[in-house]
Amino acid sequence: MTLRVFITGGSSGIGFELARQYLESGAIVGITSRDASRLDFFGQNWPGRALLLGADVRDMVSMKRAAELFLALHGAPDIVYANAGISIGNLTELEEDIAVFEEILDTNVTGMVRTFQPFLAAMKQRGSGKLVGISSIAGFRGLPGASAYSASKAAAIRYLEGLRAELYGSGIRVITICPGYVATPMTSRNPYPMPFLVPASKAASGIIRSVEMDRLRYTFPWQMKAIGMLLGMLPDRLHSLLFSRAPRKPRMGD
Ligand SMILES: NC(=O)c1ccc[n+]([C@@H]2O[C@H](COP(=O)([O-])OP(=O)(O)OC[C@H]3O[C@@H](n4cnc5c(N)ncnc54)[C@H](OP(=O)(O)O)[C@@H]3O)[C@@H](O)[C@H]2O)c1
Repeated sequence: MTLRVFITGGSSGIGFELARQYLESGAIVGITSRDASRLDFFGQNWPGRALLLGADVRDMVSMKRAAELFLALHGAPDIVYANAGISIGNLTELEEDIAVFEEILDTNVTGMVRTFQPFLAAMKQRGSGKLVGISSIAGFRGLPGASAYSASKAAAIRYLEGLRAELYGSGIRVITICPGYVATPMTSRNPYPMPFLVPASKAASGIIRSVEMDRLRYTFPWQMKAIGMLLGMLPDRLHSLLFSRAPRKPRMGD
């Protein structure tokens, strides 16, 4: 049986590599971008198996339309990836950054809900499938200058945990992915060293393997997983002292 996969944010970075690798392995893949023309590469190389969908995870109507098209053509997907996400620096003291805060939370958290929701009835009826959310090690502790991003990724971890318990016994697996630094357009502008940076192709192949193995949570690379776990144990006072000097994610327009 041909694997059927749905991926949001397939126009670049991790999502692009996930889509490419699944298509190379023979799967049918529904791929979204806010601008479907950014997905031409997939249409040219796999015209029969790549379904190119213009959809915005901030807009329920477009997500529903994309899911309905996928369901009509291919039935319930075996795997749904809520991968689309944004990362922009923000500072609470600046009023204009409140809109940035809202955009990040809406995209990275509610966008995940809007991705899964339209598929759930069909997947539940079939009694199988996997919902995969791309969170981040950035969700393990608060990051100065990127508090919206780390809050969104912490929220994603808890959202996925709640959903997993909600779907217990339904046959649907909920999988949480927490990458460290991955070389993609999202990180290319970071003006600070990114330890243990992983190429996007390697990140995607590791994610695909972990999803195949049904791991409930996959945090990588192992060096960043160890650092993340240590940071998680830091007392709050020590965390704020150490992180007060950490370099900041560029804000919009920086
Ligand atoms: N790179 C890292 O180091 C890293 C580490 C941990 C976690 N992550 C997470 O991994 C995921 C992918 O990140 P990436 O590094 O691959 O980033 P990226 O190269 O910037 O790609 C982000 C993707 O998300 C899509 N997207 C953004 N806003 C969207 C929206 N409103 N609706 C639909 N699609 C939207 C973009 O598509 P369009 O612009 O074409 O719509 C693009 O395809 C994100 O959730 C990110 O937070 C990344």
